[in-house]
Amino acid sequence: MMRGVVLAGGLGSRLFPLTKVTNKHLLPVYDRPMIYYPLQTLANAGIDEVMLVTGGNSAGDFLRLLGNGKEFGLKRLNYTYQEGEGGIADALRLAEHFADGEPVCVMLGDNIIEGNIVAAARSFRQQEKGAKILLKEVKDPQRFGVPVLEGQRVVKIEEKPASPRSSYAVTGVYFYDAAVFDIIKTLKPSGRGELEITDVNNAYIAAGTLTWDVLQGWWTDAGTIESLYLANQLVSRTGANKLDGVE
Ligand code: G1P
Repeated sequence: MMRGVVLAGGLGSRLFPLTKVTNKHLLPVYDRPMIYYPLQTLANAGIDEVMLVTGGNSAGDFLRLLGNGKEFGLKRLNYTYQEGEGGIADALRLAEHFADGEPVCVMLGDNIIEGNIVAAARSFRQQEKGAKILLKEVKDPQRFGVPVLEGQRVVKIEEKPASPRSSYAVTGVYFYDAAVFDIIKTLKPSGRGELEITDVNNAYIAAGTLTWDVLQGWWTDAGTIESLYLANQLVSRTGANKLDGVE
């Protein structure tokens, strides 16, 4: 059974001073805390065992807010704490025991989607090994991981390239087999001193086992003032995590 991992650590420095005393993922997006959206996305895809990796400020507030996850229909909600600023792949490493050899769906805690990941989860369940990423066409790809495409093949992902080679962003929804934890052990810190999720994805590309889909419906992160503001507007206009009509 695929398990879910939500990454909700970091200092949220791009949102200062909003994140001076609290965790980015506890900030409001329209009518609820940011962390509700990725948890609901996983629950809607039938992923009912989730590990939340937090860090930085107000880590204890997640337990007060989310409890045992019953409100989202989760069977099991576990928590762990990332020390330091090691990056997304470093945070994921903390979920190795929780995953217990099963595939995982990893979602960044500041990613919000209009629709759902039901179809992608179904197709990854049928994929015997490897990884799947979800792409979305965006106006500002240089802010994200950007795929280099040759026909239908993603040959490489570049992290925040000055000159993007496509107009797609790699969204913060990733499907991995259990080999991901061995891949993380081989990574070296990037220029910004972090273990990059893009390097994990490039390792799957090198192994020839990365697949991709285009995410339907709108997608945004909420990690900068502009994108947090946009996320509020999008959710207020159309709602998030819709279960139908978007596959
Ligand atoms: C991270 C990833 C990036 C991805 C983005 C999606 O960037 O490094 O590849 O496109 O999340 O939200 P961050 O915004 O954490 O710097």
